[in-house]
Amino acid sequence: MSEKFYVTTPIYYVNDRPHIGHAYTTVLGDVLARSHRSFSDPTFFLTGTDEHGQKVQQAAEKRGVDPLTHCNETVVRFQELWQRLGITNDYFIRTTEANHKKIVAKIMQDLYDRDEIYKADYTGWYCVGCERFFTEKDLVDGKCPDCGRDVNAITESNYFFRMSKYQDWLIDYIQTHPDFILPAFRANETLGFLKKPLADLCISRPKSRLAWGIELPFDKDYVCYVWFDALINYISGVGYGSDDEKFKAWWPASCHLIGKDILTTHTVYWPTMLKAMGLEMPKTIFAHGWWLTGNSKMSKSLGNVVNPMDMIDRAGVDAFRYFLLAEMSPGNDANFSEESFIARYNSDLANDLGNLLSRVSKLTIRATGGEIPVPGAVTADDRELADAVTDAIRIMEECLKSYKLDQGINAALNAVRAGNRYLEKCAPWTLAKNGETERLNSVLHNAADALCRVAVLLAPVMPEKMAELLVVLGADKAGIKGIADLKDFKSVAGLTMKEATPLFPRIIVEEEEAKKPAPQAEKKAKAEKVQEKKEELPAGLVTIDEFFKTQLKTAKVLTAEKVEGADKLLKLSIEVGSKTRQLVAGVAQFYTPEDIVGKTIVIVANLKPAKIRGIESQGMLLAAKDGGNLKLVTIDGDMPSGVSIG
Ligand code: MSP
Repeated sequence: MSEKFYVTTPIYYVNDRPHIGHAYTTVLGDVLARSHRSFSDPTFFLTGTDEHGQKVQQAAEKRGVDPLTHCNETVVRFQELWQRLGITNDYFIRTTEANHKKIVAKIMQDLYDRDEIYKADYTGWYCVGCERFFTEKDLVDGKCPDCGRDVNAITESNYFFRMSKYQDWLIDYIQTHPDFILPAFRANETLGFLKKPLADLCISRPKSRLAWGIELPFDKDYVCYVWFDALINYISGVGYGSDDEKFKAWWPASCHLIGKDILTTHTVYWPTMLKAMGLEMPKTIFAHGWWLTGNSKMSKSLGNVVNPMDMIDRAGVDAFRYFLLAEMSPGNDANFSEESFIARYNSDLANDLGNLLSRVSKLTIRATGGEIPVPGAVTADDRELADAVTDAIRIMEECLKSYKLDQGINAALNAVRAGNRYLEKCAPWTLAKNGETERLNSVLHNAADALCRVAVLLAPVMPEKMAELLVVLGADKAGIKGIADLKDFKSVAGLTMKEATPLFPRIIVEEEEAKKPAPQAEKKAKAEKVQEKKEELPAGLVTIDEFFKTQLKTAKVLTAEKVEGADKLLKLSIEVGSKTRQLVAGVAQFYTPEDIVGKTIVIVANLKPAKIRGIESQGMLLAAKDGGNLKLVTIDGDMPSGVSIG
């Protein structure tokens, strides 16, 4: 690549609570920025908040605070979420900051001096919710065409930007620049809008009606229309009017990422404003679709707004980032449901990717003690796997340019699936048993090499988890910063593999269901049934219902240490599905901490916690004890933690 890359998100209304829609655009911007940085492209990623306008003023009044205090208090919701989501923006712009306000005023003065802005009387229909004026013919059934709410007729003197004079130029520009508005059908939508005569844009609000905005430098009785102010963030954020060198380095933007609902402001208002300022057009304005819940638009009143923090708590940051990008095909709408989230997580991450890593790591450690072997002669199966990886790299590179990241991710996952099929087909466990060392070496090497390259491809999407994966492969210090380095990276041969702990513990749906309280009536009926059966039982026997009251689960031992002053006790931390708990076990005379760490054991998961030597034990492990001999109950073969037994 090696061109500079400047990417922006919309600046979010500071009043809003961040939801999955905001998170999507910001994560998309972050993945693009991380990818370009990995190609050593000079990269700048801008996001921020839109802080002026009527809604902010009203919200502040309602709370009895001044608008800036209100903004200062609400902006942290976005800043904290971006931090949690690992967003690597180079700057966070707020439209209330001094530099931005100064630049907006400077631009307005310049446009006014050059007669691009004029004053006139205006009667229009105003929608308070959307903060927009509409003409009579814009209205739908007399209501706001955007939100359907009532509009008020307002006549007032205002300032106007001569947008109409750029109509023909804009139509021509869109038609001759196929990458300007993407996906292409959004360019057609804009051209459709431009079939009607374009009006001039009202860019002022009288202070008598709205005081919270940037004052017009040529008329103290007015403030700037919030969209006119907000769009300018894309240039004020990279030094326009304040740092010429910086501005020259970054402008024009490579890509403005937006949602489809703000298409007109970005593909009509913004280009005509830039034209009037004599600035170059951004290379691409990319409009993505909407996240829906239950196939309907998310809205506070429907109570179906998805809070990103909840999803992160449930499955981790990287899994959430992955889901957002894998699930939405940019341009189209995507539907969010917990079921689809869990299904994709379990199939792509826990099963396909997690499984490949744990198999490769175990098999290699068993065969060589960890060193990834040098491969032998190449077979057709080896070539098939290598081709799947090469395809994934090529597709990911193309998709970064076309913004179709879901397809790049899909190609990477296809390579992972090819890796799992390769292991099934080549059966390294049988090769090991039969002593076919050369072939075994090839298979272990090739699977690990594929995994390493896929991890690099997916690193911008899941930075933390893929870094962990590369550590397990011993490839973290191999100098591969991104896709570009893969071309010169020979192979993983000679690296030292470590034992993998599950990167993506499976989400057990039954466990999730069990958390939901059963209706009282159902509980009572169940209890009565158990009672009836109990009465008929011969002494010493339990019913199946009674047996299932005990929840047996697989658990993975993460750490172990001796309990001071107690010869028999080990304190363990164990992973049970997505949770970690502490357990105290009387096994110290039979297992050292080193022996037990990494084992998949069986525990009673619903035992009432108890204190043993002052340390809380949350469950009990199962072991067979025969006099002076004790052996842990373990699982025969690979099995993630948190799986129910019975
Ligand atoms: N402040 C303006 C943008 C000014 S940019 C110069 C604004 N803010 S917003 O907070 O309402 O919306 C910001 C972005 O979130 C928009 O791109 C919008 O499309 C996006 N989304 C809001 N709800 C969404 C979904 N349900 N799904 C996906 N994105 C959606 O508009």
